[in-house]
Amino acid sequence: MKKIIIAAVSLNDVIGIKGELPWKLPEDFRHFKNTTLGYPLIMGRKTYESFGKPLPGREHLVITRNKNYKVDYEQVKLFPNFDDALKFAEELNTNKVFIIGGGEIYKIGMDYADEMIISRVNMNAEGDAFFPEIDESIWEITDRKKYDEFEVNTYTRI
Ligand SMILES: NC(=O)c1ccc[n+]([C@@H]2O[C@H](COP(=O)([O-])OP(=O)(O)OC[C@H]3O[C@@H](n4cnc5c(N)ncnc54)[C@H](OP(=O)(O)O)[C@@H]3O)[C@@H](O)[C@H]2O)c1
Repeated sequence: MKKIIIAAVSLNDVIGIKGELPWKLPEDFRHFKNTTLGYPLIMGRKTYESFGKPLPGREHLVITRNKNYKVDYEQVKLFPNFDDALKFAEELNTNKVFIIGGGEIYKIGMDYADEMIISRVNMNAEGDAFFPEIDESIWEITDRKKYDEFEVNTYTRI
């Protein structure tokens, strides 16, 4: 199973502010939906809460340390750590799993990922959540696609 990070990241590496995205980019939402539809998504509890309700057509594997955390949706499963979420995804028998953030989960997920699909948003943003540094001795850009307000760079391991 291919483990893929997907993120939208400003030029100064911001991904979020006060529990939300720092921008509204419908074209990037479409790209995110088209890329992830039908596949399981691994995410942190804060990212899950930022949605309001689950995204349709995708299993949500949410990581939290809070044993009392409750969710009311059948497509949302809770895990106490990243490894357990990944193991559950393996058992779903899909060929891909997407690691969709936020900052804390990207930091953990980067060591596991085979690929990263990064929408580099054409702005510097104010924020409190960041994408971790991409080590260019480990990752190289193997595909680029330009949109009006961002560019999608696909990174694979060297
Ligand atoms: N631009 C993008 O592509 C993108 C993508 C996703 C999110 N975001 C933004 O990023 C921000 C959220 O990111 P964030 O870094 O603050 O939070 P996050 O990574 O979404 O979630 C953090 C939470 O995950 C749980 N967690 C983290 N590490 C864990 C571990 N090792 N074991 C068990 N549980 C663990 C904890 O939940 P508990 O506190 O419940 O224990 C922690 O509070 C928001 O602003 C969101 O909009 C942006």
